[in-house]
Order: sequence, then C-alpha cells, then structure tokens
Amino acid sequence: MSKPIYLVGGSKGGVGKSMVTMALIDYLQGNAESVVLIETDTSNPDVWKTYGESTKGELVNLEEADGWIKLINICGDDGNKESTIVINTRAANNQGVQKYGETLNSTLEELGRTLIALWVVNRQRDSLELLKDFREALPNALVHVVRNGYFGEESKYQLYNGSKIRAAVEEKGGKSLTFPDMADLLADDIYTKRLTIAKASADLPIGNRAELKRWKALANVMFDEVAKS
Ligand SMILES: Nc1ncnc2c1ncn2[C@@H]1O[C@H](COP(=O)(O)OP(=O)(O)OP(=O)(O)O)[C@@H](O)[C@H]1O
Ligand SMILES: [Mg+2]
Repeated sequence: MSKPIYLVGGSKGGVGKSMVTMALIDYLQGNAESVVLIETDTSNPDVWKTYGESTKGELVNLEEADGWIKLINICGDDGNKESTIVINTRAANNQGVQKYGETLNSTLEELGRTLIALWVVNRQRDSLELLKDFREALPNALVHVVRNGYFGEESKYQLYNGSKIRAAVEEKGGKSLTFPDMADLLADDIYTKRLTIAKASADLPIGNRAELKRWKALANVMFDEVAKS
C-alpha cells in the first residue's frame, strides 16, 4: 500500500499545528517509517528548524501555485515512494488552500496516495468555520479533528462536540481526537532549545523525561487511531 500524505492544518495561529506535526513525525519514525517533511511556514519554519537535520525535508510556499507544483512533485518522486509525507502548515494557510488546493485534490488518485488532514482546533468558533472551508477546498481528504488538550479537556470543547461539522466529519470516516497537554516547563524547553522529541527523550533531566514519556504515550494512542483510518 502506498504511503499517505499527512497535512497538519487548522489555519488559526497558535493552535498547536507545529506541536502536532512534531509529535506525528516522532510517532512515524518511532514506527520505523521514512518521513519527508514539507514545511510550509516560510516565515517561522519552526518544525523545519528542529527536524531539518534529522529528517529529509523541503521548504515549500503553499501561498503560491509554484509551491503546490513542488509539493505534488515531491509526493510523486520515485525516490520518495516509500516515504510518508508530513506537511506542517502555517497560520492563515486557508487562502492558499482555497486558491490551489484543487491542484493536489485532483492528483491524489494518480499519486496513489491518500491525503489525511489533522485539523487542530482550539475551543473557538473560527476554528470550525475555517474547517468548513478546508473540507470544501479539499473534498478528497480524510479529515480528523484534533482537539488540543492545551486549551482544555475534551468535555470543554462543547462547541465542537455538539456541532454539525462534527457529524459531517465523522460521517465521512473522520475521527474526533484529543491531543495531550504537555507540561509548560517541558514544552518551553523543547521549543526554546529546538529539540526533537527523540533528542528530548534522551537528553533532558529525569523529571522532564518522565513527563515526556507520559505525554508521548497519550500522543501515540491518538496517532494509533489515525493510523487505523
Ligand atoms: N498540547 C500542548 N501542550 C503544551 N503546550 C502546547 C500544546 N499545544 C500548544 N502548546 C503551546 O502553544 C504554543 C504554540 O503552539 P504551536 O507552535 O504548535 O502552534 P502553531 O499552531 O504551530 O502556531 P503558528 O500558527 O504560530 O505556527 C507552543 O509554543 C506551546 O508552548
Ligand atoms: Mg506552527
């Protein structure tokens, strides 16, 4: 079976897209998968800066038609056939998706890859409105919604939990997932030192590593759900 393309979206700034991308790369590599990272946050390529050394990757601007061509060519390159593609998107990426998403949407069949979107949300309404636009622009994507535990427990996501968009997502086989909250002390360490999760798991002091282990186990449960889709 050919390897999927994961797109970590959400469009809103600061909802946790980069963190979910890093956790996903860590999960895939932990399962001995080869990963190609596509960093589309050209103004603040944080995942690229952290994972660029240990993971094959490209910086691609998805606000321009050229970027989508580049992305599709990477996905179709014979040298990447055995690799899972992981796309980290930037805030306000919806404009590029609206304009050019169809270019990717229409080539998925020829690429022989599935497009799995992890749509990261906080508890506000605009996260859901942006999701509606995204689903329309990329109708062939399988979309899972990721409630980021950083903004509160699953039960606090009342707006999403009782929404029509949730029903629409799940009707198409999408799942409603919860991403674990990581202790601030550890998250700050990982961000400021630009540590990959693997490096943090090896190098940090024992207390930080214990928290990372707890968080990682929960994140892996979530990604196991994604992998089953
Ligand atoms: N699950 C989490 N646990 C702990 N901290 C988190 C979590 N999710 C997000 N954060 C915090 O929120 C900040 C923003 O997260 P992140 O950079 O992943 O968001 P983003 O959506 O990629 O933002 P941007 O739109 O700027 O790219 C991080 O610096 C991190 O400290
Ligand atoms: Mg980011």
